[in-house]
This record gives sequence, C-alpha cells and structure tokens, in this order.
Amino acid sequence: MRVLLWFVLLALAAPLRAAPPATAPMAPPVRLGLCAACHGNDGIATLPGVPNLAGQRLDYLRQALADYRSGRRNVAPMRAAIGPLTPAELDQLAAWYASRPPCAPAAKR
Ligand code: HEC
Repeated sequence: MRVLLWFVLLALAAPLRAAPPATAPMAPPVRLGLCAACHGNDGIATLPGVPNLAGQRLDYLRQALADYRSGRRNVAPMRAAIGPLTPAELDQLAAWYASRPPCAPAAKR
C-alpha cells in the first residue's frame, strides 16, 4: 500500500518537474540597436549624461517611455529615439533593460 502511494505521488509530480524553467533567457529586442548607442546593449550607458537602465524597475521604465512619448518629459534625444517605435516595441525594450543585471556599485563612470 505504501509503495502504491509513492507511485501515485510521483506520477502526480512528474508534470511539475517537466515544466520549463521560470527564468528562460530572453532574446534581445529587434529594435535594441536604436537605444544601444547611448544606453548600451545591457543598459550600462556608454555616454556621459545618459542614465543606466540595467535592472531598473519595469514599471518605472515603461512610465518614463510613456512620458517621453506624450511630451511630459520633453527631452529631444529620447523623443527622437522612440519616435518610430510602437508601444509594443517600447514594452519589449523596457522589459529587456529591466531584466539586465545592474552594474556593480564600485564601477565609476
Ligand atoms: C542619443 C542618445 C539616446 C538614445 C539613442 C536613446 N536614449 Fe534613452 N535617454 C537618453 C538621455 C540623455 C536620457 C536622460 C533624459 C532625461 O533627462 O530625462 C535618456 C533616458 C531614458 C530613460 C529614462 C531613464 C530614467 O532613469 O529616467 C529610458 C527608459 C530610456 N532613455 C530608454 C531608451 C530606449 C528604450 C531607447 C531606444 C528606443 C533610448 N532610450 C534611446 C539618451 C538616449
């Protein structure tokens, strides 16, 4: 009886073990090239005066992009950079940068 119980429990658990890992690696967004010149591929800024985006909260990044789009944040380089992008593409870029590891605090730029 005990053996049978184990067998049933294992059979029930099998589909759980087969599930894909929750943290599947994300593919870089197609439009990343439009941002990387200033923000880097991984959200560590390549130019002085440009903010790092790596590891920033997703909701913050999405709001910032919405604010550039609406003109609430009126910064010419950012408004020009996001001009041709769809809201879905902006969302992908926000998700990409939010998922990048932040730079080490010791790194001076
Ligand atoms: C020409 C350089 C340049 C390019 C290209 C550029 N950015 Fe920026 N970005 C900036 C600068 C400068 C700021 C700071 C603007 C400000 O003071 O609000 C900024 C700010 C941001 C912020 C807000 C960060 C914060 O901490 O508030 C986000 C999000 C962002 N950029 C995303 C993007 C995305 C996504 C792209 C590509 C579509 C992109 N940027 C392309 C220069 C650039």
